[in-house]
Amino acid sequence: MDKPVIRIAWQDDKPAIADLNTRAFGQEDEARIVTQLEKDGDVVLQLVAELDGRLVGHILFYAVGVRGKLGAVGLGPMSVDPWVQREGIGKQLIVQGLTMLRDNGVSVVFVLGHDWYYPKLGFSVEATEPFQTSLKGPHFFALRLRHGPPMSGELIFPAAFGIA
Ligand SMILES: CC(C)(COP(=O)(O)OP(=O)(O)OC[C@H]1O[C@@H](n2cnc3c(N)ncnc32)[C@H](O)[C@@H]1OP(=O)(O)O)[C@@H](O)C(=O)NCCC(=O)NCCS
Repeated sequence: MDKPVIRIAWQDDKPAIADLNTRAFGQEDEARIVTQLEKDGDVVLQLVAELDGRLVGHILFYAVGVRGKLGAVGLGPMSVDPWVQREGIGKQLIVQGLTMLRDNGVSVVFVLGHDWYYPKLGFSVEATEPFQTSLKGPHFFALRLRHGPPMSGELIFPAAFGIA
């Protein structure tokens, strides 16, 4: 397989991103969440992976509020085309996204997701310990990118996720 190009997502990518999310998840919920996050102005960064001119991967990072403190960032949804999964594309999207966030002063990133996936990329349940949210549990992870605020606090997720 050729090496995919990882780049910023543009407006023109929207239909392909929605199609990719729907195929990767086998349902439309995540594509709808992407649209809602964009509409609400909650998106921090979106990257896509392009292979031979085709969009085969997508990752979204969104703003997480931390009550009374500097904010943080959340990861998801992310998806890789079922035909090219387990080829390292998801990992490249995460690594490149986290590098961009770290270089721009983001201290901590949260994700609710697969326990067989995110710990491989450095995320851990332990790193969520100083933070409060109803999402806490074995599938809620954090990764500290740099020392600095926020070090603790109550997390506020975008409305698109419908979290109480
Ligand atoms: C989850 C997903 C994004 C992973 O993307 P990917 O490009 O296939 O993953 P990668 O090739 O980068 O894999 C990175 C590591 O995870 C492992 N991994 C990937 N998919 C796996 C699976 N289904 N089961 C077990 N391990 C898996 C890889 O073996 C690799 O491990 P290594 O670094 O030790 O070699 C992709 O499977 C997907 O789009 N799934 C459907 C949508 C989804 O679940 N999104 C995430 C929501 S939380």
